[in-house]
Amino acid sequence: MKQAIIMAAGKGTRMMSNKPKVLHKVCGKTMIEQLVSTVNELDVERICTVVGYGKDEVMSVMKDKCEFAIQEPQLGTGHAVMMAEQFKDLKGKTLVINGDCPCLSKETFEKMYDSIDTSTPMCILTVVLDNPKSYGRVIKDKNGLVKKIVEYKDSNEQELNVREINTGIYCFDNELLFKYLKEIEANNAQKEYYITDLVEIFNNHGHQVKAYVTKNIEEVQGVNNKLELANANKYLRNLINEELMLKGVELIDPDSTYISNDVVFGTDCIVYPNVVIEGKCVIGNNTVIESGSFIKNSNIGDNCHVMASRITDSVMKNGINIGPNSHLRNGCTIEDNVRIGNFVEFKNTHFGYNSKCAHLTYIGDAEVGEKCNMGCGVVTVNYDGVNKFRTVIKDGAFIGSNVNMIAPITIGKNAVIAAGSTVNKDVGDGEMAIARSYQINKPEYGLKYKNKEKK
Ligand code: UD1
Ligand code: CA
Repeated sequence: MKQAIIMAAGKGTRMMSNKPKVLHKVCGKTMIEQLVSTVNELDVERICTVVGYGKDEVMSVMKDKCEFAIQEPQLGTGHAVMMAEQFKDLKGKTLVINGDCPCLSKETFEKMYDSIDTSTPMCILTVVLDNPKSYGRVIKDKNGLVKKIVEYKDSNEQELNVREINTGIYCFDNELLFKYLKEIEANNAQKEYYITDLVEIFNNHGHQVKAYVTKNIEEVQGVNNKLELANANKYLRNLINEELMLKGVELIDPDSTYISNDVVFGTDCIVYPNVVIEGKCVIGNNTVIESGSFIKNSNIGDNCHVMASRITDSVMKNGINIGPNSHLRNGCTIEDNVRIGNFVEFKNTHFGYNSKCAHLTYIGDAEVGEKCNMGCGVVTVNYDGVNKFRTVIKDGAFIGSNVNMIAPITIGKNAVIAAGSTVNKDVGDGEMAIARSYQINKPEYGLKYKNKEKK
């Protein structure tokens, strides 16, 4: 049986932020979500996140994604693991992970699980750095087994010269882990319970501790401040983009393309520079996404063309052109062959097959049928300041330019609304509605007006 404990109760003081450290995002995903989804790629039965600082926020982001243990107050990394009491009677192997290492790969986690056995029930992921900064130093014996880890603040000069450091990722035999956690004491510079003390404790009880030394320095980088956050972002972004390009996605400038790792593309897609695609998205075949687009939690079908537009929580089917500068939000579904032009906003709208909406329009809380046409400047007046109301527009309706439809309202099949109308009553099938004042032309008034201007 395999399980994992993620330590995420610290504030992350060096982030200079009110937000818990693990809720900072890398490639569009919080660090903690990133870690949990990587661990979930392995056959791990249970994942427990230890929360403390900002626990409500962290738990609401992670609810349904893992279980939790609460650490209050935060008395150190060893104390954090003790809080995962629900694991204390489990058998098998337990991975313990610093919550601030978002770049770790599933291959590395797999190697950690494979590194321990009955003769060596504890393993630490380490790396050798030119500049070991303030990381914990790994002290080994002549056989290469780990004797202890000394925290930077507790190190003597000789220990500070050691360049092999603790990355904060460990694998343990679960029964021994919980047996020996109790022996950790807080007698150190920071008066904290250090998980790293388990190295000496395991050794004292005759258990070997080994190090799995990785060469991938970037993968194990911890995020302690905004500079390191940016570095982690860059590293993961490059990995994601490289993989996408090798799978056939054409990224014109990968350095300015930000795609999260839950985005799936079909064949022959082209992504222009300065595009962001976040969350869970599926992009179909032959779809082109031009500069300035932001797409989140949305599905876009085949043969679509997105020009500098924002699309969130929506579905666009096939052969759709949108933009420049349009916005779909809050659960829109756009059927095949639609054209949505410049400066158009759709909210919570179902827009039917082959319908058009080319310019400067707001359609909210609406059901629009097939082959409808929205003129320039059409507005669904869906909100009275208190409640929202629906607009239903049936197949083939033609809505003239600058029409306001005051909802709730239904516009019938093949109905026409004259330009400039403000309608608040239903329009029947095949009817035409005109709701605007009559025009009066006054002879010579134009000239009189002009002459007055001159004086
Ligand atoms: C820790 C290690 C250090 C290692 C480094 C790698 C210890 C004592 N030291 O130091 O050897 O080189 O990571 O990055 O473990 N946390 C809790 N509860 C607490 C304290 C921390 O959940 O009471 C969590 C934090 O939220 C964070 C992780 O544990 O995700 C690591 O804590 P942090 O304070 O960053 O440890 P470091 O000082 O970096
Ligand atoms: Ca850290």
